[in-house]
Amino acid sequence: MNAVPPDARPATAAALHGRVVLVVGAHGGLGRAAALACARAGARLVLLGRRVPKLNRVHDAIVQGGGEATLYPLDLEGASADDYAELAARIEAEFGRLDGLLHCAAWFRGLTPLEHTEPAAFARALHVNLTARWWLTQACLPLLRRAADSAVVFVIDDPDATRQAYWGGYGIAQSGQQALVPMLHAELAATPVRISGLQPGPMRTALRAQISAEGDRGQARDPGDYADACVHLLSAEGAAQRGRIWCPAP
Ligand SMILES: NC(=O)c1ccc[n+]([C@@H]2O[C@H](COP(=O)([O-])OP(=O)(O)OC[C@H]3O[C@@H](n4cnc5c(N)ncnc54)[C@H](OP(=O)(O)O)[C@@H]3O)[C@@H](O)[C@H]2O)c1
Repeated sequence: MNAVPPDARPATAAALHGRVVLVVGAHGGLGRAAALACARAGARLVLLGRRVPKLNRVHDAIVQGGGEATLYPLDLEGASADDYAELAARIEAEFGRLDGLLHCAAWFRGLTPLEHTEPAAFARALHVNLTARWWLTQACLPLLRRAADSAVVFVIDDPDATRQAYWGGYGIAQSGQQALVPMLHAELAATPVRISGLQPGPMRTALRAQISAEGDRGQARDPGDYADACVHLLSAEGAAQRGRIWCPAP
């Protein structure tokens, strides 16, 4: 998918006013920064992650800033389609709506030759980084369709880099999402549900540390530098990136 010219503007305080946004991977590097930025922009947050103490810390930071958030502890590795249906039902029961879905959860355990990758690790990488993202999105689509304007944002890693040797299931999942974004966009073009990708540059997170802290020194950014880009795509202004994978300047 082609990059489009950077168009990042600081998120305005009201950009997500009245919207309910589900952040998947909300206690990760980008997920946490994005959740806080969404709350500052007026969204009510559903914070999904697999570690309750870490989710609680994100929740507390949002509430201290005057925002509103609900925790949804879930491990994407073991979650079934029924679990995602239950998630959607609980969001509907609690909020009556869903306006945004931001996929930030990712699983990567370092560069490894495919030949030496444990079969279970290959399957886990494809599942968490691709299949679970789609299953969760699919379950939420009926709610997202009911909103006047809604957005699903897939945060993806550089497909050109991650289709090189040793990126394994994580890399293949990035290429899969590069196909998924325009495919789903085309299928939902006549609905209020906007589909886009966000391709940030290297960020100093736990995921990046699996590659090489040395190699990234000085190049990788704080994940907070991309938080406003997440808000932008989830807001009405993100319509300009509908169906695209956006590579904003940090
Ligand atoms: N960092 C970069 O340089 C970079 C560059 C381009 C794109 N990206 C993309 O940016 C997004 C965010 O990545 P990040 O750098 O912020 O990574 P991160 O800090 O490692 O965060 C990833 C999050 O996903 C969670 N996760 C992993 N497996 C899970 C599971 N089975 N169930 C639920 N949650 C699970 C992790 O939880 P645990 O803490 O429990 O593992 C963590 O909270 C990803 O889509 C990634 O591909 C990152």
